[in-house]
Amino acid sequence: MSGGGRLDFEIRPNPRAVAADEREALLVDPGFGRIFTDHMVTIRYADGKGWYDARVEPRAPISIDPATAVLHYAQEIFEGLKAYRNDDGVTMFRPDANARRFTVSAARMAMPALPEQVFLDSLHKLIEIDREWFPSIPDGSLYLRPFMYASEVFLGVRPALEYLYAVIASPVGAYFAGFVKPVTLWVSQEYTRAAPGGTGAAKCGGNYAASLVALTEAAANGCDQVVYLDAVHREYVDELGGMNVFVVYDDGTLVTPPLNGSILPGITRDSVITLAERAGRRVVERPIAMSQWRSEAASGRIREAFACGTAAVITPIGTVRSAAGDFTMGDGGPGEITMALRQELVDIQRGRAEDPFGWVHRVL
Ligand code: PLP
Ligand code: COI
Repeated sequence: MSGGGRLDFEIRPNPRAVAADEREALLVDPGFGRIFTDHMVTIRYADGKGWYDARVEPRAPISIDPATAVLHYAQEIFEGLKAYRNDDGVTMFRPDANARRFTVSAARMAMPALPEQVFLDSLHKLIEIDREWFPSIPDGSLYLRPFMYASEVFLGVRPALEYLYAVIASPVGAYFAGFVKPVTLWVSQEYTRAAPGGTGAAKCGGNYAASLVALTEAAANGCDQVVYLDAVHREYVDELGGMNVFVVYDDGTLVTPPLNGSILPGITRDSVITLAERAGRRVVERPIAMSQWRSEAASGRIREAFACGTAAVITPIGTVRSAAGDFTMGDGGPGEITMALRQELVDIQRGRAEDPFGWVHRVL
């Protein structure tokens, strides 16, 4: 590690990079998380040695020993953020916030902290070398996936002594197929996502593994996503498997569950709060009881609801379904305030509107 919490990266360009015409064909309709760029970043960590061997190298399978700790005890964290290309260059949206959250997740999973500057440098390096991989479709971006796992070969249960940090990049279109179509949520009564004292506020892979059975149940009931309830009362809305939740009242007030330790502190959630308040709206962070959501949607007091996150941006919630039956926000179509907030956010992210908050970081 050189001075100021920085590392020097060894750059190894990919001698078998995808040919330009093949790449352009892949970028026409990339979907989400299906195709990847030519390179990846890797940095190793060993107890007593710290972070070392920072590289930008050809993207390739990682060979790991069958006794590697992460395969057994799931000591793993990740992040997700997007880079955008427009006529002026390439930017990232609030990468400093992802760097901070990565540090918080690492602490919760008893993993070493990667210096936030190294996290940011790793993103810059990867974007620089894979700059030709931005989709030119209207909703396209380069989704960056930094992650870290316990790479020590050891079956004892304790924090590992060795880790691998890596970043891969995936050109993406919209997360949900069908442009800004409202989603239908399944209320999971049996399965919860996170409990007080658990790992809900950390972005660790295990949280997502635990959510999959409920997602299967949702799909079997014709729903797109699961809305999880709190683990103690099974009544208050926590969040979705990969997005935070807001409801919008008829007077324009936005309500979202407070960061209670079980909810992931979404960077989109934080941005939405800031943008709504700037527009003069009241934003209240308070628990939302499912029974109240149901009755106030029925009475028309709750007019809109939406989910938000890096992958999903802002996605309207049309219908909420459970064993107790369905309820729908308004006429089930995208809400006016939801779509206005989405537009404001996307315009800042894509450099089409002024960014008074210092959210947009220039890369190239
Ligand atoms: N909640 C969960 C469980 C998530 O996985 C995500 C996605 O990252 C979010 C919320 C939204 O967070 P962000 O807006 O930082 O992407
Ligand atoms: C994201 O929005 O970046 C997420 O991580 C959500 C999901 C794809 C896991």
